[in-house]
Amino acid sequence: MDFSEFVHTGPATLAGRFLRRFWQPVCCSHELAAGKALPIRIMDEEFTLYRGDSGTAYLVGNRCAHRGTQLSAGWVEGDCIRCFYHGWKYDGTGQCIEQPAEAESFAQKVQIPSYPVQEYLGLIFAYLGEGDAPPLPHYPIFENPEISLDVASLRRICNYFNNIDNSLDNAHVRFVHRRHRDAAQDHVVLGDPIISVEESEWGVRRYVKYPDGKDLTFFFGMPNINFINGQVVDPVIKRADVMVFKVPVDDENHIHFEVRAIALTGERGQKWIEERRALRAKAEQDRPELVRAILAGKLRLSDIDPHRIDFVMLEDELAQTGQGAIAARANEHLGRSDRGVFLLRKIWERELRNVAEGKPIKAWVYRPEMVPTYPEA
Ligand code: FES
Ligand SMILES: [Fe+2]
Repeated sequence: MDFSEFVHTGPATLAGRFLRRFWQPVCCSHELAAGKALPIRIMDEEFTLYRGDSGTAYLVGNRCAHRGTQLSAGWVEGDCIRCFYHGWKYDGTGQCIEQPAEAESFAQKVQIPSYPVQEYLGLIFAYLGEGDAPPLPHYPIFENPEISLDVASLRRICNYFNNIDNSLDNAHVRFVHRRHRDAAQDHVVLGDPIISVEESEWGVRRYVKYPDGKDLTFFFGMPNINFINGQVVDPVIKRADVMVFKVPVDDENHIHFEVRAIALTGERGQKWIEERRALRAKAEQDRPELVRAILAGKLRLSDIDPHRIDFVMLEDELAQTGQGAIAARANEHLGRSDRGVFLLRKIWERELRNVAEGKPIKAWVYRPEMVPTYPEA
């Protein structure tokens, strides 16, 4: 197995070509106000994401076709974007429509790339692949009127596949999250479960039998979605279903996009989400530095306030970034407890081979009825 094929995700790479066949979240909806443009980097490519005054989001190339300055520095005008340098203006399809300094405009001959965009569940999804975009998958479990959606993007300082590997890794919980073991009366952290995994129509189905007799089923959706049904949240919310999309930024960074179904509606839901968002924004500022400081031996995890909103993420990030920004998989020694990791890599390897050989990839499907919920768990 050539592990490097999982790691690199630029447009010409195998994993990059594979991931680009799926809609990927590129930003949270709440992070992009109307009239605002953002430079974004996804899978080793740069883009301009902007929201027109109408509220529609657009994704176009990162540079102006004139002399190449970065378009995100310019102005959103209506549903178009105007370059900061000499004012060329583009519409949401990337078509140039104005060249103010040109007495004889050749705008109709100038086009920059543009990509399909859809907003769903508080995330801005883009299709960055070739050809027509497939339908955007829908997850009705998050469309329930009895819930509010807590949506977040967390910037992570390691390769996305370190995090993909972690998706099916139950054995880490007992150590990485040991600080929670005594405090939480939760099946997730009480002793070592027995785990079996199998390929499913969506990705990998994982059966987990806990020492207290509970049997739970968890799902990983190909290519990069972890679905955690009934994750422990806090004393108010108790449990929530969470979907996590692990999206590469470049070889050594990724974004962990989360959508969490909170059992609160209306103003109460909004208030809870806003408080959480403010705490998270604060935590996002120093988490990378804390992880680096711990790995440099300048700090211990036990020196950090365990009540930080992102403490569990900090624990995971420490383990995953500790593998190296890109894990050296060729040096590993996998055991039976790694069977989920092993299976997922096998599936990825098979799919990448299909891409390399020009064969069809498996048609991965999410069907709502296959995911049980555990309201009483
Ligand atoms: S570089 Fe954009 S208008 Fe000149
Ligand atoms: Fe974890």
